[in-house]
Amino acid sequence: MRKAIIAGNWKMNKTPDEAKALVTELKPLVKDAACDVVVCVPAVDFAAVKEAAEGSNIHLGAENVHWAKSGAFTGELSADMLKACGVEYVIIGHSERRQYFGETDKTVNKRVLAAVEAGLKVILCVGENKEEREAGYTDALVEYQTLIALNGLTEEQASNLVIAYEPVWAIGTGLTATDEQANETIGVIRKAVARKYGAKAGDAIRIQYGGSMNPKNVKGLMAQPEIDGGLIGGASLKAPDFSLVVNYDKD
Ligand code: PGA
Repeated sequence: MRKAIIAGNWKMNKTPDEAKALVTELKPLVKDAACDVVVCVPAVDFAAVKEAAEGSNIHLGAENVHWAKSGAFTGELSADMLKACGVEYVIIGHSERRQYFGETDKTVNKRVLAAVEAGLKVILCVGENKEEREAGYTDALVEYQTLIALNGLTEEQASNLVIAYEPVWAIGTGLTATDEQANETIGVIRKAVARKYGAKAGDAIRIQYGGSMNPKNVKGLMAQPEIDGGLIGGASLKAPDFSLVVNYDKD
């Protein structure tokens, strides 16, 4: 059985004071969660979140990482820097990075390798846009994105990976993939992992759905056999909403 993982992606939101307030409010609400709980936050909030989450089941994540150990890369952060701040998880290849910051499948792969080598747990994002879905390319595209991102990773390294399937047309739009659509595409990703590393690895890897997941639709999505969790944007910015998503298995 795969343990579910619900991760918030705060994107470019929350000052350190706001971050501290959110995590302080969240802590008691998610303390009995059956799933892994992660908040991926802006780097300026690492210290505040780490302090506020102390002694709780809330794990700290980052929203990106550079592939180099150090050097002349203005504005970037290395995996060792994240580790030193107590970061455990890192989102890589989010569609907003691909769309607005020139992220490619190749640079995603470099970031994944560097993160995994440093001992970070990666949340790798893949997903098609509206035109690609309408043209019937969804399966081929998510398979390609997944396999390039995993290039050079051993089976053991890949076991530290979580994949987030995020249809770009469903992010921040209020549109969600239907439960069945999400389940089917996640099944395609799982098969691609199984072809590369074997059936056991395919069965073991956790694959989240992301894209307008919220307290209302979480139960239906999580009831699907292939879906192991969620990457939550908008609904992760308010403690009551995020806690309802995290506690999807409770009444
Ligand atoms: P959303 O964002 O939940 O606001 O759609 C999800 C994401 O981009 O990770």
